[in-house]
Amino acid sequence: MKIIKMRTNHVKNPIGFDFGKSSISFITSQTNAKKQIAAQIQVAMDKMIKNIIFDTGKNKEIDSLAFELPIELLPQTRYYWRVTVWADNGEVSTSDVAWFETGKMENDWTGKWITPDFNKSIHPILTKDFEISKNIISARAYICGLGLYEFNLNGKKVGDEYFTPNYNAYNRWIQYQIYDITENIKIGINRVDVLLGNGWYKGRFGFSDSEVESEIYGDKFALLCEIFLKYEDGTQSVIESDSSWNAKKSNIIDGNIYDGEIYDATFIDSKVYEVKELDLGYEKLKARLSLPVKIKEKIKPIKLIRTPANEDVLDMGQNMVGWIEFRINAPKGTEILLQFGEVLQQGNFFRDNLRSAKAEYKYIADGNEAIVRPYFTYYGFRYVKISGWVGKIDIKDFTGCVIYSDIDQTGYIETSNKLVNKLFQNSLWGQKGNFLDTPTDCPQRDERMGWTGDAQMFSGTACFNMGSYAFFNKYCYDMMKEQEIKDGNVPHVVPTVNYRKYGSSAWGDAATIIPWNLYIHYGDKAILKQQFESMKSWVDYIRRVDEKSGSKRLWSEGFHYGDWLALDGEDPTKPYGGTDTVFISSAYYMYSANLVAKAAKVLGKFNLVNEYELLANQIKNAIRDKYFNESGQLTLNTQTAYVISLFMDIVPDDHRQMVSDGLKNRLKLDNNHLKTGFVGTPYLCRVLSENNNNELSYTLLLNEDYPSWLYAVTMGATTIWERWNSIMPDGMISDTGMNSLNHYAYGSIVEWIFRNAAGINPLEATPGFRHALLVPQPDSRLKYIKASLDSAVGIYESNWEFDDDGKVKYCFTIPFNASATVILPDVVLEKVRLNNKLLAGTEYNAVQSGENVHIELPSGIWEFI
Ligand code: BGC
Repeated sequence: MKIIKMRTNHVKNPIGFDFGKSSISFITSQTNAKKQIAAQIQVAMDKMIKNIIFDTGKNKEIDSLAFELPIELLPQTRYYWRVTVWADNGEVSTSDVAWFETGKMENDWTGKWITPDFNKSIHPILTKDFEISKNIISARAYICGLGLYEFNLNGKKVGDEYFTPNYNAYNRWIQYQIYDITENIKIGINRVDVLLGNGWYKGRFGFSDSEVESEIYGDKFALLCEIFLKYEDGTQSVIESDSSWNAKKSNIIDGNIYDGEIYDATFIDSKVYEVKELDLGYEKLKARLSLPVKIKEKIKPIKLIRTPANEDVLDMGQNMVGWIEFRINAPKGTEILLQFGEVLQQGNFFRDNLRSAKAEYKYIADGNEAIVRPYFTYYGFRYVKISGWVGKIDIKDFTGCVIYSDIDQTGYIETSNKLVNKLFQNSLWGQKGNFLDTPTDCPQRDERMGWTGDAQMFSGTACFNMGSYAFFNKYCYDMMKEQEIKDGNVPHVVPTVNYRKYGSSAWGDAATIIPWNLYIHYGDKAILKQQFESMKSWVDYIRRVDEKSGSKRLWSEGFHYGDWLALDGEDPTKPYGGTDTVFISSAYYMYSANLVAKAAKVLGKFNLVNEYELLANQIKNAIRDKYFNESGQLTLNTQTAYVISLFMDIVPDDHRQMVSDGLKNRLKLDNNHLKTGFVGTPYLCRVLSENNNNELSYTLLLNEDYPSWLYAVTMGATTIWERWNSIMPDGMISDTGMNSLNHYAYGSIVEWIFRNAAGINPLEATPGFRHALLVPQPDSRLKYIKASLDSAVGIYESNWEFDDDGKVKYCFTIPFNASATVILPDVVLEKVRLNNKLLAGTEYNAVQSGENVHIELPSGIWEFI
């Protein structure tokens, strides 16, 4: 038995995070035991767990998903903790030691914000030398640099994070980082160099081509730094940023997120400049919530192409996000230009769909051999055009650094269909490519923003694919900070950047849907506690709009994107789908009101439960009155309208079959192909499978011709496209105005694969997969599925396979200290064989329910043949 995945606030050994109430979690693995009978958590001030400050004792109530530490945390302090678990088979195991370290909390900053005293386009390096003459026992650097910074000590980059201090609504809060630099400090002279770049805070970013309008949050580079040193002799000292620091010009001549970077290695300005103090204040500074952004993977180009236009283009084999690192040894003055694109057109390099984003990297060589990479920009690309290279290009000199927030894959899917497997991989890559600190719509063109709608629609899939709690936690917090200054209204993009538009349904509902998804997937109420005001204030905002327009309990005002990019819109040249937007907005109004009621219930706010349930019911009735006829049929005839009616439970139970038949008929008229956009797509197959039309889900999944998910796969896609027809059958891009090849929204089909095809579902009453619902729905057009989920409680597996006689064999794994209700379709109880034995009577509470058998299983491996 081994205790793994020890996390504080869902982060491994976090330093300098905002813990609020610290919540710890862990997983017990490698055991045949079924249940935890007790656990003990000990928190100490030392690694050896000697100086214990909190001890639960052996306790039956400890929840491994989230145990809130009832201790008052001190600032700038490291806490160590460990867990002992007692299992029902007599096994006992004590974990290794994990830790977390608090930030400044209420402690004041003493360092000053400083800025270089020279023209702002060249990226500065702010430096300080300091002497150490006695042994230190610990050293910490507390840093924030704006727009972005890289921190070097004695000529070496500290840590493995990029894009610090991360991306959020800087007008509301600014994160700082803490680094443990004990090992980096030496006796003698130490040198701090902090390189500053534009990033999202300043420089060109946002909905404008103009550099000036783009300085969204500030127009000056700035640094704040405090280095705390503790010596062996018990004394301490602090090195602070102030006017005694110096500035130098770096070799980064220019750069921003969209256009890339220019690095001139020949540029030498040995002059040392002064720095000025800046009055930015400290009020906005807050301990971080952002996960570190890291180079998570490295990939090599698969080939070098000489294109018909006689250009040299690297093919990375994968649409990826990050940058290219390369080795260069070219004569002084050689100008190398890398340009990044997602697709070739007629064999040639192409990047018109990046719109105004130049997405380039220029390097001017100084004659020395060097390993080169950009610092403060990133690219979304599969192809890299290389110009100016001297001599033969060797692809071994190039490496694709895949950069995203420090999250790991948790969901795995393999089926008998290679195209479906690729679709899953594409969705996963969509997440990797767009989870760079903020969930973005796309990573390549002049946009790359935290579009709320896209994040909302993909969040369910995201939680299956990868461990997404901490990542979304920061995004949700950011959203709440934006709402606080807009009376609860949610911006279309978070952070709002300079696109200060607010309040579209389905987009703003990110405020309720994402926290709820996190809660049911990870079983930690903390997200609901943190976000409850945000969830509620969004619904309150809509209610106020509703009340101003006559309290119809419909949302009939304002601008809404509707079923964005659906194929049934009146004007095919426009991105708007054909489903009535008042219907969509009202449905989401109801859905969000319901989620507020559910969250209120979890948090014990019972008076609010009634209020928001009542509101949701009123809206439901208003929608029924307006959009359903007397016999109960939906009067809107689009796929998405049917999907939303069924998914959001707007349809009364006794009319479900009729409405579901309506969807089936609608699909038939559409030749059993997709017409849905952003709103309908995530739920289409789920609704079909959950309403007796499972075979249609598979038809839609397995269609290979346009419009379908696999169409893109057959066209060679390695990520999810923005549009169903981003690339036409002849290989030509369909549009360059708004056409990304790495847009995760339609990757939301993966949630259906996990939940319905493989059947792995979290349950609201037992969140975090403590008790799950395993309800696979096979279809013989796939011979098998193997799905696994490294859930918050441990690894679930659901595999099924058809044998040659068309019989289905199922195999499930349920992790330690978890259980599941298994529902097997189309089987007769008397014939069910579990682990090679006929089920004896009502063993495991097995019951026949219609054509299905329900069984309650504990942890273990369970095979049904
Ligand atoms: C983005 C989307 C977003 C949309 C709003 C686009 O430019 O890329 O994915 O949701 O605008 O409708």
